[in-house]
Amino acid sequence: MQATAIAQPNIALIKYWGKRDVDRNLPAVGSISITLSELYTQVTVELSGDLASDELIVNGEESQSMLPRISRCLDSLIGDTRARARVTSHSNFPIAAGLASSASAFAATTVAAAGAANLSYDTEALARLAGLASGSAARSFYGGIVELKNTGDTISLTSLSERDVWPLQVVVAITETAPKATGSTAAMEISRETSPFYSSWIERQDQDLDVARAAILRRDFRGLAAVAEHNCLKMHSVMWASRPPMMYWNSATMRCMQTVRRLQAEGCNVFFTIDAGPQVKAVCLPADTERVSEALVATPGVRKIMTSVLGPAARLVLQT
Ligand code: PMV
Repeated sequence: MQATAIAQPNIALIKYWGKRDVDRNLPAVGSISITLSELYTQVTVELSGDLASDELIVNGEESQSMLPRISRCLDSLIGDTRARARVTSHSNFPIAAGLASSASAFAATTVAAAGAANLSYDTEALARLAGLASGSAARSFYGGIVELKNTGDTISLTSLSERDVWPLQVVVAITETAPKATGSTAAMEISRETSPFYSSWIERQDQDLDVARAAILRRDFRGLAAVAEHNCLKMHSVMWASRPPMMYWNSATMRCMQTVRRLQAEGCNVFFTIDAGPQVKAVCLPADTERVSEALVATPGVRKIMTSVLGPAARLVLQT
């Protein structure tokens, strides 16, 4: 029993930072994200009575560090008396480096595991199960622009715009490929426990969600740009004011932000967003993508850029 799934990472424009319930991995806030197209993770799950324990191979190498999270994800989906699994994952972009690889990996794993076990969950149920493993993974179950609502006891998801309705593009500036020092689960808890800005971050999130949702529905790029940059910088302020502080940026991150500011001053429709890592994602309208790419690739410290249109939802590609 084997199945293969593909999922794209998603980038939050209104960020999720902080958990309401760590055990059930429930986010303390709602979020809005865009699903990318050119970046992907492909996962094959093979369930076999011949395996003594679960195995995880990530980009051709055995991985022990992620294995317990993967095993828990399979247990919650299939049940803990299930056959053991060999999980093989391949991503075409740096992993654990602030590029949402856990979102695409857990979304693809969840879809592939349900396929291998021949279980038919609906999208929302699968998204919730993936969300138990990685909060942001639930958003990769929808293409285009998606909102994750924190409804208290669980999460719910709504598509705000199909991928071709408002064809935003993203230029990802990669400034560092090494894995980050502090994973997001640990970092969120440090913020909750120590950052003096944490409570106002939580209190104001609904306001940012309302402004962003309205801007998306009327395709107001400048309106979305303003609230997305504000929300991103607020999340990083929460991190910087934590003890110990979490500073995910490097000098090239800052230079990329200055490049985006310069492009904006020149009339370009672009804004930046940054997650728990040093990469900068520049969101723009299609007419400006080439200019944004050229400016970011020429920014000192940028190692590589990847350009993407909006992508589709996580999906099963093979079941045998
Ligand atoms: O889903 P996690 O645990 O990888 O957390 C994601 C946190 C951010 O990427 C910083 C923000 C977000 O909403 O994706």
